[in-house]
Order: sequence, then structure tokens, then C-alpha cells
Amino acid sequence: TSNQMWGGRFASGPAAIMEAINASIGFDRKLYAQDIRGSLAHAAMLRETGIISADDHDKIVHGLNTILSEIEDGKFEFSTRLEDIHMNVEARLADLVGPAAGRLHTARSRNDQVATDFRLWVKEELQRTHAALKGLIEVLLAKAEAHAATVMPGFTHLQTAQPVTFGHHCMAYVEMFARDRSRVADAIERLDECPLGAAALAGTGYPIDRHMTAKALGFREPTRNSMDTVSDRDFALEFLSIAAICASHLSRMAEEIVIWSTPQFGFVKLSDSFSTGSSIMPQKKNPDAAELIRAKTGRINGDLIALLTVMKGLPLAYSKDMQEDKEAVFDAAETLDLMLAAMTGMFAEMDVNVAAMKKAAGSGMSTATDLADWLVREVGLPFREAHHVTGRAVALAVERGCPLERLPLADLQAINPAITDAVFPVLQVAQSVKSRASYGGTAPAQVKKQVRYWKKRLAKG
Ligand code: ARG
Repeated sequence: TSNQMWGGRFASGPAAIMEAINASIGFDRKLYAQDIRGSLAHAAMLRETGIISADDHDKIVHGLNTILSEIEDGKFEFSTRLEDIHMNVEARLADLVGPAAGRLHTARSRNDQVATDFRLWVKEELQRTHAALKGLIEVLLAKAEAHAATVMPGFTHLQTAQPVTFGHHCMAYVEMFARDRSRVADAIERLDECPLGAAALAGTGYPIDRHMTAKALGFREPTRNSMDTVSDRDFALEFLSIAAICASHLSRMAEEIVIWSTPQFGFVKLSDSFSTGSSIMPQKKNPDAAELIRAKTGRINGDLIALLTVMKGLPLAYSKDMQEDKEAVFDAAETLDLMLAAMTGMFAEMDVNVAAMKKAAGSGMSTATDLADWLVREVGLPFREAHHVTGRAVALAVERGCPLERLPLADLQAINPAITDAVFPVLQVAQSVKSRASYGGTAPAQVKKQVRYWKKRLAKG
């Protein structure tokens, strides 16, 4: 038998394989709540504008609410033959309320319907992401505040560079996740337009009120161009782009946690609840959550590339290709939610080994720049010459196998006679970080200032 929704011009039904490639109900059932909400708003507008009767409206509303509970109670029977969530709901509505159901699809197409459902879903996901990012930022702020003065090595090329504070390092991630959060807010602003009423592609001859449905569904306003409306999946691409950028931040942080938690570094200790053991090596405690956060970033990048590739060659307006938008977004959303939750939990429960960080901070001649700066400031050497003098001191310390601050004054004076013992405090890591008090620098006072700044901004929403 042919399809009950569009079978009029067909003599026979689709081949089984046609049904299989065509059906999206396996994944777009996720949109059931948005689909029913969209239909309720559409029906109310049809009644208000006199396009359907109050009686038909009431039947439709009753039927849709029944379907909503059936789905939520797990009693709804989804059918592949009915292709997608839209037709599954509408067919059931016909079972429940008879001919009134057939009036719901007046002045509407599945093209504007799916665009509406999907926008609603992506908007809600963006709101979830916004909240989850806030939770992660709060955890980072708490750690930054507690460790505003905890010194650790700062790296470039993963080689010891200059001492920094762990609080400063945490605040670097606060900046990244706050940018992600503002990208989320921007995306919500941009997608906040309602597709409903664009119909198939050209709009409709019925006297619909698109402002009314837009408002009822919580959108700021209706979209302006019906052709763009049913062709546009930018909002999905934006979500995926934001997810991919955020995932790469999470992945970099995860990578650092993997490094920090090695016995060789020993900077942090993961809680038992956020690590795993080995079935053969009893001593192991593995940072699997961090590794999986790092790995799942690849999936999200794949989701983004998949949808970009689907969209890139499509002529206006709707093509069935666009049905492939959903799995990428659902997968990325589920993955990102999990990554954010895992990172938040893992980081909150992670122990920081202050002594190990401090010890490492002083290794690798990390205060060599401080010596050079001292020579500039106190002796009046040009920086390039100070750099050279310091290089010789470093070479000597390496040769002796001792840290810079342990070199006898006489040896330092042999390199440059103007050096005095006033240089030694400068070579201490605590003094080094304290001195980097430029705006945005690693000095504990600066870190605390940035923590206060973000706490205040976060309180605003
Ligand atoms: N399941 C379809 C999708 O997800 C709904 C829109 C179908 N529209 C159409 N003209 N066949 O894109």
C-alpha cells in the first residue's frame, strides 16, 4: 500500500530498501516534544486566524497531548513506514481524533516543521551547554582562587620556560570556556527566529500569523525569507563549530591532566572516582576520563565536517540530504555534554600536589629570565647583553649540576663583576611569579583580580 500521507499519486508502496534509506524515525524521534509543541502552536494560530474551527482545534490539542503522554510513557509505537517523527505523530493523531487531524497540516509543510523542531532542539541544547560551561568555569575559579600563589613551571614547547602559578594556569582555561560560552550566547541570539509558516518553500496563501507562532514557541521573531528558512542549517553548523572549538579546549586541558598525573610529573592526583585501574599492573591508576575527553574531540570534529559536507552543494530550497543533519548534531551534543560533565567532575575532585609543582618550578633554570631582567634593571645592561651574561651563568650551573641560585657569588661575579648578592632573592620562584604583576600576568595578586572579575561576570548570567 502507498503512504497514507503522500500516497495519492502512487500506485504502489516503496520497496523495503527505499523505506530503509528514507526513514529517519530511528533518530528524529528525539524531536517528539518539539514536534508536538510546534503543532500545538500551529493549531492555536490556525484557530485564532479562523483557518480551522474551535472544535477541530480542541480535538487536535487533546490528541497531541495524548500522544505526548503515550511517547513519554513508552507506549507509542513508532513506525518506519511512516518515515519520520512528523508523520508518526500525525498518523497517530488521525487514529485518535479522526478527520480533524487532517486539518493540522494546513498552511504547513514538513519542511518548515522540521526546521522549527530542530531549531527548538538546538536552542535547548545550546542552553544546556551554556549552563554546563558555567559549572566548569566555577570549578576552575575555585581551584584558581585556592592556588593563586601555588607555583609551577610554565612551559613553552613543553620545556620549562618561566615559573607561573597554578591559579594562573586555571584562569587560562576560564578565558577559553568563557569565550565558548559567549559563542553559545551569540548562536542562540542568531537562531532565535521561527521557521514555522515558511511552508514548503514559498510561504502560503492562508492568512496565517507567523508572529503569533513565533512568540508562542519562544522565538524572538519569525524568519524573513521562506526559501532561506527551509534551506538553512547554519544554526546546526554553528552549534557543531562551537562544540568542536569547546571540545578542543577540553582536549587540551585533558592532555595536560594526562601529563600532570604521570608519576614523573606528579603535579596532580586524580580521585579514585575519576580514574581506572589496570587488570594486569596493580600499581596503575589511569586517567581514562581525560583520555576519552581527548579522544571524543575527534568525533565532534567528524560531526562538524559531516554536516558541512552534506550542506555544501545543496541547491535551494529543501533537499532530503538535509535529513542527515540530525545524527551529527545529536551525537555531538551527547558527546559534548558528557565531556563537560566528566571534565567538571574530574577537575573538581583532583588533588593538587603543591610541593611537587614547586619543586618542578625551580628546576630547569626557570628563573633565568629573572636574572637577565635584574641585570637590566640594577646594572643597566641592555637586555641582549644581559641575556648573554645569563646564558653563561646557566651554562656554568648546568656544568656544576646545580640550580642557578646555588652558584657562588664569586662565580657569578667572574661572569659579570657588577652582580651582587642582592640577585639571589630574585632567583626564587615565589619572587619570580610575584614580580610578574603586569596586567594579565601570573602574579598572585593579578590572578586574584582575574578571579574576582570572572566571578562578577558570571553572576550576571
Ligand atoms: N524527515 C525529514 C527531514 O528530517 C522531514 C522533512 C521532509 N520533507 C520532505 N519534503 N520530504 O528532513
